[in-house]
Amino acid sequence: MKIKQYHWHHFFGGIALLLLIVQLLSGSVLTLFYSPHLNEAYASVQYLYNELSAVAWIRDTHRWAALLLVLAVIMHFIRSFLRKDYLIRESKTLWLTGVLLFLPLLGFLITGFILPWEWRGYWFMEMVPNYAGEIPLIGPSLSQFLLDAFTMPRALVVHVVILPIITLVLIDIHTLSKIKRRAGGLSLYLREHGLFATPFLLIIGALAYALPMPTQDPAIIPMPLEGERIPTAEWFVLIFYAPYLYFKGFMATLFGFYIPFAIFLVLAIFPYFLKTKTSRTGDRTEHEHHVAGRKKKILVRVLAPLRKVLGERTLVKTAGALTVFLVAMALFVPLYTVSYASPTMGCNSCHNLTAGNRMGLPPPTFKDRELNPNLKDNTFMVEHWFYPQVVW
Ligand code: HEC
Repeated sequence: MKIKQYHWHHFFGGIALLLLIVQLLSGSVLTLFYSPHLNEAYASVQYLYNELSAVAWIRDTHRWAALLLVLAVIMHFIRSFLRKDYLIRESKTLWLTGVLLFLPLLGFLITGFILPWEWRGYWFMEMVPNYAGEIPLIGPSLSQFLLDAFTMPRALVVHVVILPIITLVLIDIHTLSKIKRRAGGLSLYLREHGLFATPFLLIIGALAYALPMPTQDPAIIPMPLEGERIPTAEWFVLIFYAPYLYFKGFMATLFGFYIPFAIFLVLAIFPYFLKTKTSRTGDRTEHEHHVAGRKKKILVRVLAPLRKVLGERTLVKTAGALTVFLVAMALFVPLYTVSYASPTMGCNSCHNLTAGNRMGLPPPTFKDRELNPNLKDNTFMVEHWFYPQVVW
């Protein structure tokens, strides 16, 4: 019973854990076929699409699971936030590790986009140092360091060794250690939840099959705006650059960097400045706290007639679910309105080998901002990504 309760509270957290396992498995397969060299990386990905369709499907699964993982993590965060998990003393470490986990997640996304080394990967590789350069004081040297340090094998090692280790340590503190202490441990947890997870796995598999990344060029060349409106994991990184569509210089940096960074810091540490509730007997008391807190809410009293019809429990649950839904929409609707124009699959329409080597493969002179001043022009880079048919 207790496990069930815990499970439903952390429904999205459980999904995130499951998707992380999907990423671990699919990623392991992909490493076997990937070649981390500037001249071979893209060819090694194309090879999958032309010769090994099962592995290409695994790659698309890896991409879709990445998107759904970010969504699940955000939903898990919203629910924990609204449930005020951070007020419980024992949960503060869980809160902090949870928020910190956003960092390796972002790292996974960025390195993951770079690895295929088509023009999207090239774009991200150039934009990360530009972005880091905006940080006060250390920015310029950090930016230079990132440019100097970048090599394909290093990006791969960060993606498949360093970030997984950081994630594992944080996840262990965040949740695994708790699961392992329960009777049956991790293996029972996985067996119990595996069946429940099957529909989600089927959905991911179907998405990956129906909407693959077109990488068969020059045999199949997409249209410039292809992939518009189809959500991808890229959106969650592009959204930080989107202010360059509307502002220039400091204002763009304000919205794209300073404000998100400040929000992140506040979210990570604010529980440490609040009064704590102590729960001596673990999850159960936590739960009772929440229920008691909710019952007092005036809103619930105002809704008395509805309570009669639905019953107390259902009403509280519906109100809770509705709040989660509204907060999630407040985040995802702006994300969609800004990002839907990103033609994720269209880059290859111009950037493919039939358009010549210069347009087909990221040039060997990448990183060189003297030879290619576009690379340090954030406005060009962002406008070109969102509106490649207009700005180039
Ligand atoms: C309509 C054709 C077209 C599409 C579609 C297109 N590009 Fe480009 N792109 C160009 C041209 C042409 C240039 C060269 C501009 C120049 O050098 O003045 C360019 C330049 C670039 C550059 C600057 C660096 C360089 O080496 O020139 C990057 C990065 C880039 N594109 C990435 C992308 C990405 C990412 C996408 C998909 C979101 C994309 N492009 C879609 C035509 C296109």
